[in-house]
Amino acid sequence: MYQTWEELEKSIENCQKCKLCKMRQNIVFGVGNKEAKIMFIGEGPGADEDRLGEPFVGRAGKLMNMAFEMVGIKREEVYIANIVKCRPPGNRNPEDDECFACMDYLRNQVILVKPEIIVLLGSVALKNILGKEYGITASRGKWVERKGIRYMPTWHPAALLRDESKKVDFIKDLMQVV
Ligand code: URA
Repeated sequence: MYQTWEELEKSIENCQKCKLCKMRQNIVFGVGNKEAKIMFIGEGPGADEDRLGEPFVGRAGKLMNMAFEMVGIKREEVYIANIVKCRPPGNRNPEDDECFACMDYLRNQVILVKPEIIVLLGSVALKNILGKEYGITASRGKWVERKGIRYMPTWHPAALLRDESKKVDFIKDLMQVV
């Protein structure tokens, strides 16, 4: 584990720990307040994120920003990262070996940010952080506490684009974390 952001950021430059490195344009490391109380963890970069090198800047990200505004979260006050830092081709889910290869970076980000609360966006984040036995439908909206961190699983913002009815849940879940 690295003690500083500089060391951690340097360690990921040129990362070739998994096959996603072959197709990426940019590593999408994370963005926001490095001393945030609340951290958000998504799945992995999409096309827009890969192009711009920042998480949640595409359609799902814009929707998430709108939800943030509704509940009074400022994007620059929180820290946002993903399970995998490079885009899975065709927006497929990241595979287990890719998540595993990338997990040390995220672990190190969590250690450096020291958030009180982590919002898990969707099933991939939930299963990789809390365990495969968790399902997003049953778990969303319910706090889980582990080692002094409170986790709030909720829908992935892309799920709201596919099913509008999930927007209400998403807002309710965010209201619990502010
Ligand atoms: N979906 C994610 O899970 N993460 C992003 O950064 C963008 C879309």
